[in-house]
Amino acid sequence: MIPTLLPTYARAPLSFVKGEGSWLIEADGRRFLDLGAGIAVNALGHAHPALVAALTEQAGALWHTSNLYQIPKQQELADKLTAHSFADTVFFTNSGTEACELAVKMARKYWYEKDQPEKTDIIAFTGSFHGRSSAGIAAAGSEKMTKGFGPLLPGFVHLEFGDHEALTEAITETTAAILLEPVQGEGGIRPVPDQCLKGLRDLCDEKGILLILDEVQCGVGRTGKLFAHEWSGITPDIMMVAKGIGGGFPLGAVLATEDAASGMTLGTHGSTYGGNPLGCAVGAEVMDHVTDPAFLDSVNRKAGLLRQKLEGLVATHPDVFESVRGSGLMLGLKCKAANVDVVQAGYDQLVLTVPAADNVIRLLPPLTIEDDEIAQAIDRLDAAAVALSAA
Ligand SMILES: Cc1ncc(COP(=O)(O)O)c(C=O)c1O
Repeated sequence: MIPTLLPTYARAPLSFVKGEGSWLIEADGRRFLDLGAGIAVNALGHAHPALVAALTEQAGALWHTSNLYQIPKQQELADKLTAHSFADTVFFTNSGTEACELAVKMARKYWYEKDQPEKTDIIAFTGSFHGRSSAGIAAAGSEKMTKGFGPLLPGFVHLEFGDHEALTEAITETTAAILLEPVQGEGGIRPVPDQCLKGLRDLCDEKGILLILDEVQCGVGRTGKLFAHEWSGITPDIMMVAKGIGGGFPLGAVLATEDAASGMTLGTHGSTYGGNPLGCAVGAEVMDHVTDPAFLDSVNRKAGLLRQKLEGLVATHPDVFESVRGSGLMLGLKCKAANVDVVQAGYDQLVLTVPAADNVIRLLPPLTIEDDEIAQAIDRLDAAAVALSAA
């Protein structure tokens, strides 16, 4: 008999009743050190007092009106996002997937309005992840995500991650945009080198096509800059954001330049819940924290500390781990043992990590993780590796 919850997830037999900073707590009191942060969502940790206050204050005043009316918190968050980024304008969604939908629509509409309606193709890369909607799975293109769900949304061209030559050749008169994650998340924590991002920007400028960055997982302070692309000095035309911006409340956004957004005129897109007062109240509070230079400095310092300790862990357990990769507090441990076994061994030591493709485990802790928690994380991962080696 089918479970009453549609069985699309392989859930661990863990169930949490409370969160505190970097910790998740089960009903029996067991405390797990959370290095997954809800897959890069709880940027300020669990139950951050400022986020709890922002949400409860809004909850006591007004939950929902509609985009038929002005939503002051939405305006405030849009102003903060544009003040701190390349973008001139923002559309709010409830998730990264919905942000992907709009990014694709926006790119196509852009060319339609420029009298080049033939430009509909979006170039994307192997190993990418852009969500589970029809556009999201078509964009990622992997068999794992698309098999059985055809006919797929047409107009996506897939190239091997890192194949520069293929990229130049793949751009034709029907290309509308290039879409990529500056650091692939689900694909196994694969950063695109700064030089490549610069090259991509140049290529887009030269060919006159749009650059769409998916910063759903790597954005909002995760890499130690507000947005990951800032490390390379380039800016995109369109960017998708979600996860960390809501700190755990469902919230996403598409940010764009005035030019890139020019096709999205009155009535061309909408959402009942996107940009609702609750999400935007939390998002505005998150922004105040993650845009503080001292906060980003601390992310970078802690990222250095964690990375250094992880290198030591790899050196101590060459039979379990192979290497460390990633950017900021978006780190991956490439494993020699099966990554799912490493994640499981971590559960046994009360530390949570997240598996990814390419036999990697992801470490995406709250950006507020403290130094002694980093030390505890390493001790627990070390104990997990010892147990795995002994098995
Ligand atoms: C890079 C990237 N894009 C898009 C998505 C989809 O976001 P959501 O699950 O909020 O719809 C994800 C989710 O993991 C992601 O990592």
